[in-house]
Amino acid sequence: MPEKILELKNLKKHYPVLGGILRRQVNSVRALDGIDLDLYRGECLGLVGESGCGKTTTGKAVIRLHDATCGKINFYPKGSDIPVDIARMGRGEMKKRDIRRKLQMVFQDPTTSMNPRMLVKNIIAEPIRACETLSSRELDERVRSLLRLVGLNDHHLLRYPHEFSGGQRQRLAIARAVAANPEFIVLDEPTSALDVSVQAQILNLLKDLQQKLDMTYLFITHHLLVVRYISTRLAVMYLGKVVEIAETDGLFNNPMHPYTHALLSAIPDMDVDAALKRIVLTGDVPSPLDPLDGCRFHPRCPFATDLCRKDEPVLEEVGGGHKVACHRKFELVGSDLLF
Ligand SMILES: Nc1ncnc2c1ncn2[C@@H]1O[C@H](COP(=O)(O)OP(=O)(O)OP(=O)(O)O)[C@@H](O)[C@H]1O
Ligand code: SF4
Ligand SMILES: [Mg+2]
Repeated sequence: MPEKILELKNLKKHYPVLGGILRRQVNSVRALDGIDLDLYRGECLGLVGESGCGKTTTGKAVIRLHDATCGKINFYPKGSDIPVDIARMGRGEMKKRDIRRKLQMVFQDPTTSMNPRMLVKNIIAEPIRACETLSSRELDERVRSLLRLVGLNDHHLLRYPHEFSGGQRQRLAIARAVAANPEFIVLDEPTSALDVSVQAQILNLLKDLQQKLDMTYLFITHHLLVVRYISTRLAVMYLGKVVEIAETDGLFNNPMHPYTHALLSAIPDMDVDAALKRIVLTGDVPSPLDPLDGCRFHPRCPFATDLCRKDEPVLEEVGGGHKVACHRKFELVGSDLLF
C-alpha cells in the first residue's frame, strides 16, 4: 500500500475582489472550489488544465504560501500515519514542526524567487542556514555539493543570478529548493520558459533528484507530453475543481471525462488523420467569479443533459484508482460519441 504524504480535503481558495471608492469586497474569485486530492510518497503527480483553472493556486495553498479559505491539508510526516492538518496551523507551530523546510516550490520564472543582488553561494546557503546550524566550512561544502548535484560547479559560486542562462537559473532554483532536504516539492511550469533541449535536461535532472533524494513532486504544466514523461499519476483540473485523476498511462489510454478528451485530442500528432478526430471546444469558459449550477463544464460540453445543468457531479472512483466527475462517464466510454 503506497504511503500517503498529503491529503487535500474540500480545499477552497477564494480571492477577494475589491470595488468602490472604499475598496470594499464586492465579490470573490473562486480559484479553488473544493479540491480533493491524495498524494503518495515518492510519486510525481502531474496537474494539468487550461490557464486560470487554479493550478498555481493549488500549489501555493498546499505549501502555505497562500492561506486556504477553508478545507484541510493533511500532511503525513515521514514514518507517521497520523496526519497533521497544516491548513490552519500558526507560524509558531509550523516552525516547531519544521513544515516550511519540508514543503518547497519551484516557479516557472526562477528570477522571481531569487534576490538579484545575492551571490549564488548565499542564495543556496540561505535555506540551509534557516534550518541547520553548520560551521562556515560545512556550509560551504554543502553549497558546493548542491551545485554539483544540479550540474553546475564551483565557478558559479561567486556569480549573480543574471549572469546565468535560463536553464542554468532553473538549475539554481532547483538547488535552492532541495537545499533544505524537503520531502515534497511543487514544480510550477519549471520547464515552460526553456527551449526543448534544455527542457529535456531539466526533466532528467528532476527525475534523477527525485530518486536520489526520495522526494514527492506535484508537477504543474500545460505541456501534456512533458507530464506524460515525468508523472506517475495525472490530475486534470477545470475551473477550480479536479475532474479526473488516474495513473498517467491509464489516463492517456482511457480518458473518461469529456474535458480530458478535448485536452488530449489537442496534443499535436504526426498522424494526418488525427486532425479529424480533434475536439474543438466551443462556448465561453465560465467566470470563476460566478458560480454555475450543475457541472461547471456544461456550457462547453457537447454531451450535456438537463441533469448536467442542474446537479454537480462528484469525483467518483471507477476502478484502479481512476476517478472521474461526470454524470455520463459510463455511457460515453466505449461509445462512438467520444473521438
Ligand atoms: N492573488 C490573486 N488575487 C486574485 N485572483 C487571483 C490571484 N491569484 C490568482 N487569481 C485568480 O485565480 C484563478 C486561478 O489562478 P491560477 O494562477 O491558480 O491559475 P493557473 O491554472 O495556474 O493558470 P496558468 O496556467 O495561466 O498559470 C484565476 O482566475 C486568477 O485570475
Ligand atoms: S457531467 Fe455532463 S456536462 Fe459535465 S462533463 Fe459530464 S456529460 Fe459533460
Ligand atoms: Mg499557473
